[in-house]
Amino acid sequence: MKGLILAAGEGSRLRPFTFSRPKHLIPILGKPMIRYSLEDLVSSGVRDIGVVVGYFGDMIREFLRDGSDFGANITYIHQEKRLGIAHAIYRGIKEGFLDRDFIVYLGDNILSGGMRKYVEHWLENSSDVHILLARVPDPRLFGVAVLRGGKVVKLVEKPREPVSDLAVVGVYMFRDPELVARAFKSLKPSWRGEYEVTELIQWFIDNGYKVTYSTIDGWWKDVGTYEGLLDAVYLLLDRAEPRVEGEVEGEVRGRVIVEKGAVVKGVVHGPAYIGRGAVVERNAIIEHYVSIEHDSKVISGGVSRSIILDNSTLDLNKARLVDSVVGSRSQVKCSKEAHGDIKLIVSDYSTIIL
Ligand code: G1P
Repeated sequence: MKGLILAAGEGSRLRPFTFSRPKHLIPILGKPMIRYSLEDLVSSGVRDIGVVVGYFGDMIREFLRDGSDFGANITYIHQEKRLGIAHAIYRGIKEGFLDRDFIVYLGDNILSGGMRKYVEHWLENSSDVHILLARVPDPRLFGVAVLRGGKVVKLVEKPREPVSDLAVVGVYMFRDPELVARAFKSLKPSWRGEYEVTELIQWFIDNGYKVTYSTIDGWWKDVGTYEGLLDAVYLLLDRAEPRVEGEVEGEVRGRVIVEKGAVVKGVVHGPAYIGRGAVVERNAIIEHYVSIEHDSKVISGGVSRSIILDNSTLDLNKARLVDSVVGSRSQVKCSKEAHGDIKLIVSDYSTIIL
């Protein structure tokens, strides 16, 4: 079986963090986002993996290289124009990479329990297409599936009317690349100018092929926005195994990960993640649901429910940063007079003085 990770998108909804990198390289608890899909494929037994790149593709190639560091054998496929998921899959077929059954994994999707058991279910069923479904509070943001009598009868991309609350997860399993190519050729771009994967799969339904599904039981996140990024970090922290490999001179309470080379002189309340080389100084308090990526430093003040990307410095004095995302290589400095909660979405390479 082959795998295809889609990582060509511009990540426009994750700006400003995607002005200087593809969203797939934004670190989440010490791992660039794309590693979650890659590791899920590898641990489901898929080694031969194509990665579709476009926007900042060179950065992705430089990070993953030939895949051997991750137990995979990677082939890169360039998607010149971002014409949608179905088009990216078709590129994989046209380039000759997808030549047998395959799994497509959107590089910004994270599944808490992984997909292995669903892949096994699909292999037992041997259907033409297998999709994963998850109940969501706002189906307008996703492709959704309408079921009847235990069968998928219709897929609708970003429905305006509430036809179903079962979102289609960004993991798709296909048996025959030739059929997928035929389906693609019947498509027209949607209102957003993309060849939609939901319409591709609808072709299989309409032409009498077997389309099956699994409803996932863990959580699933499409990390397309900064709120999604925060949610993903909260959810991952909830099931993180505590581990202290760095130095703790201050105090660490609850479920906390302190990576090698990190130093905690202040207080950290879990769940929290302190990345490699990060420093929490004596006058700093890290509260619940915080991720501080590698080599960032909190000199003073409080941080709660926030993500601090790598190589940044916070010197907040009496202020407390909440529900915030601070990009890489940025500085946030608060004067001694500033106090209370502040919420900031700070780009990379920025300086904020309050
Ligand atoms: C895409 C698909 C959608 C699916 C979603 C899952 O949406 O078009 O059907 O539910 O991924 O992440 P997009 O992220 O392109 O808006």
